[in-house]
Amino acid sequence: MDAYNITVVGGSGLVGQEFLKLLDERNIPVGRLRLLATARSAGRTVEFRGQTITIEETTPESFGPDDHIVFLSASGSASKQYAPIAASRGSFVIDDSSAYRMDPNVPLVIPEINADDLAWHRGIVSQPNCTTTPMLLALAPIHRVNPLRRVIVSTYQAVAGAGAAAVEGLRRETEAALAGRHEPSGTQKREIAFNAVPQIDVFAEDGYTKEEIKMANETRKILHAPEVAVSATCVRIPTFFGHAMSVWAEFERPIDAAEARRLMEGAPGLTLMDDPAREQYPTPMDAAGTDAVLVGRLRNDTSKPGGITFWTVTDSIRKGAATNVVQIIEEAARRGLIRPAGS
Ligand SMILES: NC(=O)c1ccc[n+]([C@@H]2O[C@H](COP(=O)([O-])OP(=O)(O)OC[C@H]3O[C@@H](n4cnc5c(N)ncnc54)[C@H](OP(=O)(O)O)[C@@H]3O)[C@@H](O)[C@H]2O)c1
Repeated sequence: MDAYNITVVGGSGLVGQEFLKLLDERNIPVGRLRLLATARSAGRTVEFRGQTITIEETTPESFGPDDHIVFLSASGSASKQYAPIAASRGSFVIDDSSAYRMDPNVPLVIPEINADDLAWHRGIVSQPNCTTTPMLLALAPIHRVNPLRRVIVSTYQAVAGAGAAAVEGLRRETEAALAGRHEPSGTQKREIAFNAVPQIDVFAEDGYTKEEIKMANETRKILHAPEVAVSATCVRIPTFFGHAMSVWAEFERPIDAAEARRLMEGAPGLTLMDDPAREQYPTPMDAAGTDAVLVGRLRNDTSKPGGITFWTVTDSIRKGAATNVVQIIEEAARRGLIRPAGS
C-alpha cells in the first residue's frame, strides 16, 4: 500500500484519536499526517510514530491537492462545509457524520458487506452509524442466502457514542451521584448516571428519533434492499464503551437458530460468543477496545416461528467508527480508488 498523506478533521476527538491507534495497529503507511479541529484544541500536540503533530484549526483553506485522504470525524455541519472542498481538491474523503449517508451520489460502506459500492464514489464515501454497522454485520451472512424482510431492534448504547464530552459527563455525574448529588452534565437528554434514556438525537414527526431512523434507512441502502422493514428503539445507558442491542429478524424464508448459527460462524468481522450452558454471552466490557462484533443469545423467535432473535455488542468507536474507516482505506487502496501517493 502507498504511503498516503492523511488529514483528519476531528483529530482531537474520541474517534480521531482511535483512528491514529488503528493506523499503527494495522501498519498503514502514512506520508504526512495532519490533525485538524476547532480553535479549542488548536495548538495541542499529539505523538504519532515518533513525531509531534500540532493540531491546527480547520478552515476552508486547510485542504489542498497534497491531501490524498481526508477523514472527517467532527460534526454534520463541519462535514457539509468541508467535504465538498476536500473532494474538489482531489482527496479521497471519508465522512463519519450523517451528512452524506443517504446521498444517492455517496456510497455508504461496510467493507465486509458492500465494498463493491466504493467503485462508484465521486470523491466522498460515507460510513454508517455505529449501531447500523454491528447489526448488519450480524444479519448480512443470512441476508446473502435468505433476504432480510423485517427487523425489530432495541439498543443499549454507551456514552462513548456521543463523543469525549459525554464520556467525561458520565464520569462526573457518577461521582456526584455516589456522593448523593444529582448533577446532570447536559451531555445526554437526561441525567445518565444510574439511568437509561430512550432518546438519542431529536424526534421526527412519526415519534421515532433520528438515530432510530438512521438505522432503518442505512440498513436499506447498505443491503440494497429498499423493502426491508425496520423498527428501532435506541436507548443510552450508563456504560462507557460498547454498544449492545437485541435484534429480532425475519427473512424471506423461515429460518431457525441452528441454521442462523451455521451462517454466522466464520462470517467476516463476526464472533459468536454463545453458550447458554456455560452462561456465555457478550457484554459491553467484552467488546470495549476490540474490533469484533460479538453475538450471543441466538435463539428462535418464539413469538413468531420462522424468525430469530439475538444479542450483539460492539465497540462504537472501533468497528462502529475508526476500524471501519481504516478498512475502507485498505479496500479503496487495494482497488486503486485513491489517487496515487506522490501525485
Ligand atoms: N463516538 C462514536 O462512537 C461515533 C461513531 C460513529 C460516528 N461518529 C461520528 O464521528 C464524529 C466524531 O465523533 P467523536 O466521538 O470523535 O466526537 P468528539 O470526541 O466530541 O470529537 C469531536 C471532534 O471534532 C472536532 N470538531 C467539532 N466541530 C468541529 C468543526 N466545526 N470544525 C472542525 N472540527 C470540529 C472537535 O474539535 P475540538 O477538540 O476542537 O472540539 C473534536 O476533535 C461525529 O460526527 C460522530 O457523529 C462517532
